[in-house]
Amino acid sequence: MSFEHKSVLLKETLALLNVDGNNGIFVDATLGLGGHSSEILKALGPQGRLIGIDCDQRNLDQATELIKTLPGHERFTPVKGNFRDLDTILEGLGIKFIDGIMYDLGVSSAHFDDAQRGFSFSKEAPLDMRRDMDSPLTAAEVVNKYRAADLERVIREYGEEYKYRKIADYIIKNRPITTTTQLAGIIANAKHGMNEKINPATKVFQAIRIEVNDELGALKASLAKSLKALKPGGRMAVIAFHSLEDRIVKRFMQAESIDCVCENKRVECTCGHKRSINLLSRKAVVPQEEETAVNPRARSAKLRAAEKIQGETV
Ligand SMILES: C[S@@+](CC[C@H](N)C(=O)[O-])C[C@H]1O[C@@H](n2cnc3c(N)ncnc32)[C@H](O)[C@@H]1O
Repeated sequence: MSFEHKSVLLKETLALLNVDGNNGIFVDATLGLGGHSSEILKALGPQGRLIGIDCDQRNLDQATELIKTLPGHERFTPVKGNFRDLDTILEGLGIKFIDGIMYDLGVSSAHFDDAQRGFSFSKEAPLDMRRDMDSPLTAAEVVNKYRAADLERVIREYGEEYKYRKIADYIIKNRPITTTTQLAGIIANAKHGMNEKINPATKVFQAIRIEVNDELGALKASLAKSLKALKPGGRMAVIAFHSLEDRIVKRFMQAESIDCVCENKRVECTCGHKRSINLLSRKAVVPQEEETAVNPRARSAKLRAAEKIQGETV
């Protein structure tokens, strides 16, 4: 089975990464179906090299098939792995420094379209939601085994769902829950009477997906490793689709772009923190209307990019 995915903020990401004619080493940390990577490979100079990482074997295989058809495909290396292990992935390839890295966070359309993966509340499937089918934690485990306090924390923090207590209570009372649609029905009952524009299960499904894949933990760990791996003058670009991820990216980039991160700026600096990047745009770049008209999924995308400072080493 093969799936389609419209790449978001494609032109903008390539421009900010400075890939045109570049002969350096670039990393696509979220290869997906290879949309961004294909264009990066086409734009790179004749010696430019591209590493494409994905923790989902099926997406990785599909992207690799696509990229194999492109001129320059011998300069592309697919890697099955989690971007949180960027340091060991690069080490394994014998690469010390890179010229650019991009992340296109969020769920690939392929994940929602394939009912069996359990990402969608509208398609009957076992509760799974793992991107990496080799990882041990599934949605079924979170839903059926987590203690009330942990379930509440996940729903509150990662779903920003204020009915978290009632929803967790309904879930616990209805255990065992085996399918996506069964879970969606239980959430709808817990939120009965609430007038929302989105499906009542949207935020809870997001929360469970984030927990299952440790999305925020992986992002934090990887951003720090990216910065370390970038050469001076190298660039990072990150596309986020929800505020929890965007906040992490924004805070990371802001903190790395200033000289002192002491909490109380009125006293003399004691943190000794030195800036290591320049922000490439003060505000997040968002898609133009032409893009959102043909790809509504792009509406919530925010792109932030930064350049490692010349001569600085982290
Ligand atoms: C939105 S899609 C990327 C789409 C891609 N840019 C394109 O144009 O086809 C995100 C991809 O990143 C992968 N992914 C998400 N988190 C990851 C992680 N921590 N490590 C590796 N891959 C990850 C997902 O499996 C998915 O295939």
